[in-house]
Amino acid sequence: MTKQLQPIQQLKGSIKVPGDKSISHRAVMFGSIAEGKTTVEGFLTGEDCLSTISCFKKLGVSIQQEGENVTVEGKGLTGLTPSSEDLYVGNSGTTIRLMLGILANTPFQSTLTGDESIAKRPMNRVTKPLKEMGAAIDGNDAGNKVPLHIKGGETRGIHYTSPIASAQVKSAIILAGLDGEGTTSVKEPFKSRDHTERMLKAFGVEVETDELTVSVAGGQKLKGTHIEVPGDISSAAFFLVAGAIVPNSEITLKKVGLNPTRTGILDVLKNMGADITYQNINETASEPFGDLVIKSSDLKGTVIQGDLIPRLIDEIPIIALAATQAEGKTIIKDAHELRVKETDRIETVVNELKKMGADIEATEDGMIIHGKSSLHGASVQSYGDHRIGMMLSVAACIAEGETTLTNSEAIAVSYPSFFEQLDILSK
Ligand code: S3P
Repeated sequence: MTKQLQPIQQLKGSIKVPGDKSISHRAVMFGSIAEGKTTVEGFLTGEDCLSTISCFKKLGVSIQQEGENVTVEGKGLTGLTPSSEDLYVGNSGTTIRLMLGILANTPFQSTLTGDESIAKRPMNRVTKPLKEMGAAIDGNDAGNKVPLHIKGGETRGIHYTSPIASAQVKSAIILAGLDGEGTTSVKEPFKSRDHTERMLKAFGVEVETDELTVSVAGGQKLKGTHIEVPGDISSAAFFLVAGAIVPNSEITLKKVGLNPTRTGILDVLKNMGADITYQNINETASEPFGDLVIKSSDLKGTVIQGDLIPRLIDEIPIIALAATQAEGKTIIKDAHELRVKETDRIETVVNELKKMGADIEATEDGMIIHGKSSLHGASVQSYGDHRIGMMLSVAACIAEGETTLTNSEAIAVSYPSFFEQLDILSK
């Protein structure tokens, strides 16, 4: 699908961004392996989370979804049943990597596949430790790429030091450890998002966290529960930046998840001079949330690196756009992981923003941006990456002239109502 996008004078009003993607995936997955019923409210109906529902249905779980309300009839940790078809994860890295962890506990063979983007993404970061735990896994490129075949059933705990800060890796290993023999622990170089730890506790599992290490004892059971999914700060990020850079704007984003392992974007935007205030801070069983109000303001360049990177990894494309509108230089480094996301986001961000007139260069592990540049409309593409598509749509709001965005349909992966909400705010 191709979209013609026009500049926007101002953004005003209030919206509720859709449910958090990471939390929605986990609610369905953990509900599936819990005993008893789990109800989910505020579920993200984006394509990625629908892929998770479809895979767990194929594994014998009864799941009812009506819009943002989902009911899962849990089968227990060892109650999943073999699928007669391949488990197709679409574009979703979280679905495939966490599901591999869960399937390490099932004594039958499953085959996992995905779309073109998934076919390029490395899986050995998860398959290597899961093999060490006793799962039999093979596939393309010696088990690094889909299609992957996994047969589990007899895992033993490991103490794994992960070379990368990745919640997908940490979660897969912890999930595999739940039915394993002995204790499983994962140590990371920096703290990644901790939704798995928080939600497992809500499901009655004992999880220990000590700085950069998370551990679980094997042989634990999950008990069905109610999960309220807050708004996704990674989706809110597009309107936080839009509100900051479109002149005369004031946007309220309601019930946005404020888990500290995800709020790096707020720290960075504030550091750049953004005008953001918090209201109505509250907490569900496992996650904090609140309303965010953003007003347009002058921005200045910044440096983003080190332990901040996992706290904003998915927001770097939209932060790069903010940096094109900031006075001075912005340096983003230590973000090599961007190269293995839905696209190589260092390449795709730099290529497309250059077409619109940005002064931006790629480095091995990040980018350098010189601001402030006047952007102009251009013919750009999402490369099938939802976050690149949304970043370019926000860029089009401040560009002079019309922008043509191809492959805009990718946005439905995480934010099906993105253009509707942009419309509401620009009226
Ligand atoms: C996610 C973890 C992150 C993030 C992805 C969702 C999760 O990936 O980029 O969009 O839900 O665990 P890594 O943990 O691999 O960095």
